[in-house]
Amino acid sequence: MPLLGKAVRHEWALDWDFLSVNHGSFGATPRVVLAAQREWQQRMEAQPGRFMRAVLPDALRHAAERLAAFVGADGKDIAFVENATTGCNAVLRSLHLAPGDEIVALSHGYGAVRNTVRFVCERAGAMMVEAEVPFPRPSGDAIVANVAAAISRRTKLAVVDHITSGSALVLPLQRIVDACHAANVPVLVDGAHGPAQVPLDLHALGADWYTGNCHKWLCAAKGCAFLYTRSDRQTDLHPTTISHGFGKGYLDEFDWIGTRDPSAWLTIGVAIDFHRRLGGEDFMARNIALAAEATSLLARRLNTEAGATGELAGCMGLVRLPLTGPVSAERSADLRTRLLAAGTDAPTHVLAGAIWLRLSAAAYNDIEDYVRLGDIVAGVIRAN
Ligand SMILES: Cc1ncc(COP(=O)(O)O)c(C=O)c1O
Repeated sequence: MPLLGKAVRHEWALDWDFLSVNHGSFGATPRVVLAAQREWQQRMEAQPGRFMRAVLPDALRHAAERLAAFVGADGKDIAFVENATTGCNAVLRSLHLAPGDEIVALSHGYGAVRNTVRFVCERAGAMMVEAEVPFPRPSGDAIVANVAAAISRRTKLAVVDHITSGSALVLPLQRIVDACHAANVPVLVDGAHGPAQVPLDLHALGADWYTGNCHKWLCAAKGCAFLYTRSDRQTDLHPTTISHGFGKGYLDEFDWIGTRDPSAWLTIGVAIDFHRRLGGEDFMARNIALAAEATSLLARRLNTEAGATGELAGCMGLVRLPLTGPVSAERSADLRTRLLAAGTDAPTHVLAGAIWLRLSAAAYNDIEDYVRLGDIVAGVIRAN
């Protein structure tokens, strides 16, 4: 495997005086992808009329084929969207819910997606039913059992995170999808953190919908995400913005929803090549191992505990902060602000009555980064 950490930092335009240990939130786009994106933008702006009509349709489908091969799907099942929030909105807002219907969502589900579930439920007189994710250090069995227990005769859909945001848990997705399907409940997977954090095979998974961000772990340009829809689920699915393709089929509806900059999607192949150059599956395994080492280093340094270990741990880790006094969202937000001012972007989250720090392990990180993170966190806590 190629050298990583400091040896690849020249690939990014990040400010190395600032400690970037939060790749999970917004990713970081390498220079090679940004350069390819600029080329597509220049091509578009040289002849906008010809580009949009004669170049873009095929170029977009070519990009979808590249991405499909990477995530184990067919190109015809992949639509590009700007982000996972948009992908989830398309599926949720296409549902025909009736009063009394239920949608199962996780207690650790992403806030914006839970809001969308609440929105579609409130409009229809339906209900969001929460499946509890135990924390810290939950067992996969307990999570699968809680999802299965939340399903009733009225459940119309389960919305399941692949990798949770605040708690950084890699959920036992295949077992959850199988449990939902055994109860005849379709599954929308919020895979915002999935692509390139863990290997994906969407054919084998068999979920009804999977939306994933490529601008996080795959290091694509910002606004590069996709919605996979199993072929039997494509009828009556619509993007949130209705445009000229309405009624003409899945790809016609999603490929054009008005004028926008498609350059982030058109450079997906460059991002996939870059990911492979860093080591592909070995590189993902290296990041998971680095996150585990960093998490236990920080838990020892702060004399606290880790949020997950073993098979539920991915390229992000959670460490409880050693705080005394009241725990609140405001205090967590205040700590985040202090950490940013002290020179790092590691976010904090309130979970299970405590405030936790989340770290990410990306290509450009080394174990020394987390020693530095420990120093910064200890300083901020002392002053808190
Ligand atoms: C689980 C989950 N879903 C959705 C999102 C939203 O991603 P985006 O802002 O790209 O829509 C995130 C972002 O971190 C996430 O962690």
